[in-house]
Amino acid sequence: MADLDGIKIEKNYYTDTAFATGGDFHVKGAANLDWGMKKHLTNIFSPKSGNTVMFAFDHGYFMGSVSGLERLDILIPRLIDHVDVLMATRGAFRTCVKPDFRKGIALRVSAGSSMINDDLSHEIVSVDIEDAIRMNADCLAVQTFIGADGQLESIDNLSKVINAAARYSIPTLGVIAVGKNMERTDQYFKLATRIVAELGAHIVKTYYCDKFEEVAAACPVPIVVAGGKKLPEKEALEMAYRSIQGGARGLDMGRNIFQSYHPAEMADAIGKIVHEKFTDKEAWEYYSGRTR
Ligand code: R5P
Repeated sequence: MADLDGIKIEKNYYTDTAFATGGDFHVKGAANLDWGMKKHLTNIFSPKSGNTVMFAFDHGYFMGSVSGLERLDILIPRLIDHVDVLMATRGAFRTCVKPDFRKGIALRVSAGSSMINDDLSHEIVSVDIEDAIRMNADCLAVQTFIGADGQLESIDNLSKVINAAARYSIPTLGVIAVGKNMERTDQYFKLATRIVAELGAHIVKTYYCDKFEEVAAACPVPIVVAGGKKLPEKEALEMAYRSIQGGARGLDMGRNIFQSYHPAEMADAIGKIVHEKFTDKEAWEYYSGRTR
């Protein structure tokens, strides 16, 4: 192990060089996958921009009814036309989302923690592959806790889901959790995103950080960026812009959309950055113009 022996060569992420084995398919790292996988990934990532706006409202699986998500049946109809993918639990989909919508489905399939635990890193796989198929899921989302007490079981969960879903050509989304021992540094995210991609995840969800372009370059599958705690809208749009500029292929935001006073307009402004190459300034002007 060169790093352990103290022998280090300078790292080169070739951040100006496009991913080499993309072929003619629009999703990073997916050129060699089969038709079914590509169809599901196309339900998530636009063939035109290659990017996606996911709306995450799966927080209830460990946080309960957080502010903004008290009534999913009221919120989701207001937002559904403004995003590309809904990310939620099967309970939320089945009870609060009409099945006639035509957007992508990112189905949360790991669970086990709750906000009253000291350690949130212990989860199980909570959804059978048969039920994920019944829900027409386009990808299955599994939490991973690299560096935490529950690392091994979360990698076990991820691997089991990847193996089961691969039998039916369903992609897996590895979600990088951050916690007590996991700092939001490029070193941590480079480690965690690369581990999850090498284990076979087809999409990785993580957070924005300094040197994000190196994190994205070293990850051979598309990264979608989580929003995290609510920021002022202008700052959230800046983060969205920096993420896309840094090589993210989408945003998977929750609180920065549903805790905004104008969630639909916020989702639209993010979409302008993600799909139409708006700068953060242009997106902010667009948002401000629609919410005055
Ligand atoms: C947490 O792990 C869940 O996957 C959330 O969906 C995720 O944190 C994204 O939501 P937010 O943008 O609110 O952080």
